[in-house]
Formats: sequence, C-alpha cells, structure tokens
Amino acid sequence: MSRPRIFVTRRIPEAGLTRLRASFEVVVNPDDRPLTTEELHRGVADADAVVGLLTDRIDAAFFDAAPNLKGYANYAVGYDNIDVAEATRRGIPVSNTPDVLTMATAELAWALLFAVARRVVETDAVMRSGAWTGWGPLQFIGADVSGRTLGIVGAGRIGTAMARMSAGFNMRVLYTSSSSRNEELERDLGARRVEFDELLRESDFISIHTPLRPSTRHLFNADAFRLMKNTAILINTGRGPVIREDDLVAALRAGEIGGAGLDVYEMEPRMAEGLKDCPNTVLLPHIGSATHSTRDNMALLAAENIEAMLAGTRPPTILNPEVLK
Ligand code: GLV
Ligand code: GLV
Repeated sequence: MSRPRIFVTRRIPEAGLTRLRASFEVVVNPDDRPLTTEELHRGVADADAVVGLLTDRIDAAFFDAAPNLKGYANYAVGYDNIDVAEATRRGIPVSNTPDVLTMATAELAWALLFAVARRVVETDAVMRSGAWTGWGPLQFIGADVSGRTLGIVGAGRIGTAMARMSAGFNMRVLYTSSSSRNEELERDLGARRVEFDELLRESDFISIHTPLRPSTRHLFNADAFRLMKNTAILINTGRGPVIREDDLVAALRAGEIGGAGLDVYEMEPRMAEGLKDCPNTVLLPHIGSATHSTRDNMALLAAENIEAMLAGTRPPTILNPEVLK
C-alpha cells in the first residue's frame, strides 16, 4: 500500500518535516515563497493531508481542488485564513498551533512596547549615522512604562501571557474579552474587565490579541483613535485588519495617539500609504512566533495533528471536533 501523501505549502522547520517523513510521502513547495492560488490548488490535487500557512486561503475552492483530503493543519495559531464551517460541512478536520507560540508572541509585544516607548529603533539610527554629539538633558525623551495602565484587547492565551509579564512593571491592567471573565488575571494582577471605550480612554499602552473576526475587523478606526490618549501607544502582534491602517496613519500624523508598534498589517506584506513615514512607530515583518524552539514546536504540533487526522484519532489541537465520530 502506498503511503499517504502530505503536501506542505512552504518549507517549515526540519523537525516537523522529519516527523512527517517517518510515516508519509511528503512534498514541500521547493520555493521559499507563498504559492499562488493556482499553484496551491495544483499542489493539493492528490494530497491526503496538507500543512499550510496563514497566507494560504483554505476555502471551498481549495477543498474542491483536493478531492482526497482527510485533514488540514495550519502552521499558525490564527485561522482567519480557514473557512472552518466549510471544512466541517465536508467532514474534514482542521487544526492550528495554539500554546506553543504564546510566550514568544507575548515577548515580542513587549519588545515592541519598549522599542516605541523608549525610541529604541530611532535612536539606534542616530548612533549609526554618526550624528550623536554626546549626552544631553533634553535628548530622545520617551514614555514611562512602570506604574502606567496597560490595556489588553482580547485576554486569551497570548493576551493573558502579555498581561502577566507586566507584573514586574507594576502596571494597572485593564482588559476586554468577548468570552468570559479572566479570573486568573483578576486574581493575580488585580486586572479589571472593562468596556472597549473605557479601555481606550484609560490606557497608556494598548496591546491587541484578539483573533480576526467580522466583529474585530477595523475595531481600531478613527473613532477609537479619537478616544485614546494623545500619548497612548498601540501595539499589534495579532492580526493586521483589526486596525484600519489608513485611520492609524491619520491619527499618528495628527498626534491623536502617541505611537504604534506593529508586527502585522492590514494588507500584508504591504503597508498603508504613509505608514513608514509616521513618527513614533516601530514596524516589524510578522515575527511574533519567530524563535527557534517556537517554530520547531509549531512544526511538530502540525505534524502530530496530521498523524491523528490520517489515523482517525483525535488531533491534539483540532478546530472542528464535531467532525470526529
Ligand atoms: C501567526 O500569525 C500565527 O497566527 O501563528
Ligand atoms: C489565540 O488567539 C491565542 O490567544 O492563543
């Protein structure tokens, strides 16, 4: 009997590929770039299961192109690229990679927060340019972090980890959550769940951790920026379209908010017109989960999910368990 065929839409760390090759015939996109829709559909034509990325659209046309498909594993925690309802209608299990990237992503949110607050990137450029003339009392003054108010939008796994890391800076923590109260944050940090408008008005730093859904698309728009403090710094390591990026550019230019640290963008890999020239911004290329061990663990978790999907057992991080009989 021939071994099941796994298509991997882009090279992932060897740890995961080695594990997959132990049981399956594995075909990996040979080019280190995202596939076009046409290439993706051609690649999956005889696949029994697929490991894909947040840049792949996993929709009805994808499933039509993969008649033998028995499972799809997303190499990402976010799954706004997957039509989960369509997968479920077709009885196809789909999975993501939660937990293994929680700390790496929360750490990157802090890296951005400090980089913007203390002007780390801007002042590094001053040193490299040779323009620094020596210490000065009025130079490069930034924002305090300790004792300030941190607003967490979406207190799920990553939002909770990000908030917990604030304990060393003695911050007041506010959060919004679309589901239940976060008792852990309330107990351990004295965090308070508030309405979105109150979080906007009160926070000195706002960190976005909500998944992208119809209800969170453009949550941060001109109205939201008007409610924020003029000094507030916005951090986004979640999904770009949660921010209406043109409105962010306008708010930064007008000084309606104090700064922004972004790892994700509304139209990746493009940025809104003018964003790169805005003051007080640090702009990163979607590297939230980019540490060696995290990327290895994401690859291993995707492989474990694929193994279970093809064995007919329960994938560890399945998104649509209702397809299991
Ligand atoms: C990355 O953005 C992810 O969702 O894992
Ligand atoms: C997903 O959105 C998470 O918080 O892990």
